[in-house]
Amino acid sequence: MKVLTAAQIGCGKFAQSQDFPNMTSHPNVKLKWACDTNLEQAKMVAEQFHVPCTTADFMDVINDPEVDFIKIATSHEAHLPIIEAAAKAGKHIFCEKPMAMKDEEAFRIIRAVRRGKVKLCVDLNRRMSPALQALRAKWLEHGKDPKHNPWRYIQTEREPLPEENLPHLNIRIQDESSSYGLGHLDPLTGGGEIIGESVHWLDVACWFFAPARPVAITAWGSSRLSHGIYLKFDNGASMTLDFSCSGTFDFPKEMFEVTHNAALFRSLFFVENNYYGFPDAKPEYFAMQHGSAKSLAEYMEQYKARVSGVGNMRDIENSKPFMVDKGHRAMLDGFVNAIINDEPSPCDEMAGYLSVYLARRAIESVNLGMTLPLPIEQVTPCIV
Ligand SMILES: NC(=O)c1ccc[n+]([C@@H]2O[C@H](COP(=O)([O-])OP(=O)(O)OC[C@H]3O[C@@H](n4cnc5c(N)ncnc54)[C@H](O)[C@@H]3O)[C@@H](O)[C@H]2O)c1
Repeated sequence: MKVLTAAQIGCGKFAQSQDFPNMTSHPNVKLKWACDTNLEQAKMVAEQFHVPCTTADFMDVINDPEVDFIKIATSHEAHLPIIEAAAKAGKHIFCEKPMAMKDEEAFRIIRAVRRGKVKLCVDLNRRMSPALQALRAKWLEHGKDPKHNPWRYIQTEREPLPEENLPHLNIRIQDESSSYGLGHLDPLTGGGEIIGESVHWLDVACWFFAPARPVAITAWGSSRLSHGIYLKFDNGASMTLDFSCSGTFDFPKEMFEVTHNAALFRSLFFVENNYYGFPDAKPEYFAMQHGSAKSLAEYMEQYKARVSGVGNMRDIENSKPFMVDKGHRAMLDGFVNAIINDEPSPCDEMAGYLSVYLARRAIESVNLGMTLPLPIEQVTPCIV
């Protein structure tokens, strides 16, 4: 069995909750390095997860001939120099989202990985979640031969109008802004929630409707906090995102709903999928990453029991994680397999770029208060 040697660069909150547990328990990964500019933090996490080497300088990791791939979970603005150095040294790269903060940075990242002939995977993990994979499969399956419930009235007296049956994806995010570090809202290190978070939902829409190409974007609200985005594709499909950060974690954060062919496909926070409009549309339930709940209702009950009487939620989150499966582990599996078997990355540099480009266009749309086209040469740039 092939085992890859890995190095973690950036040992903050996300790395501690996902990267360290996932990599140290992966049968094909040996995590050798914990690197953070805050060396104390790197040492503390390395000790907790039994990682042998620590450093504050990412070049120590890049210069280690034993390292096969690096995982980057620094703040966003630090990605470019690390990726350029890693690609030059022939290391594969697993990078947190957003891949970059600006188009120009993303172009340089694409060029670096292509010239270095290394694989890059951007952790736009939602596309790998079992619940969204099942949602898309069910939607595609129904689309091949739509069957309807016997009680449905079928219009036969006229031809359908051209826009009468276009697929629509509705994504509702309700988040708690008190959980955001100010660094994520700072224009220099985070850039706000459209570039920091909504790259996830922009990627989900592009992955869901692939091979359709996005052609226009409209966004409103605040690029830093609550906002909405409407994304239109060349086959007429569309996605509406409603992102509010004035909500509560006492209710699930993410809900996805697709309507098409007189049917509805809904995913409730990666735990439960419901389907409507066709015979035998039974709900599907998905295992959690940490903990177990057999339905959304059970998830909610357990969540309530867990938080009642707790003084500080952060303490319980770290000591006893309770987490739905958003696809983090599957993304790591996919990337490790891509390296070992020389297969395409599960979320490559072009997908990473596209989500950054769309987020930047959404921010521009908010600033200008207008719909913007997405020219083909910018959606599919030619980088050599
Ligand atoms: N995929 C997801 O679902 C998801 C969820 C949360 C966070 N994230 C991403 O993870 C990243 C980190 O977020 P976080 O909340 O852990 O932030 P954080 O501030 O807690 O951690 C970032 C760490 O990176 C270190 N760092 C910064 N520059 C560095 C450099 N050049 N070399 C080495 N270390 C460096 C910092 O010292 C810090 O410890 C962000 O890009 C965020 O978007 C992804």
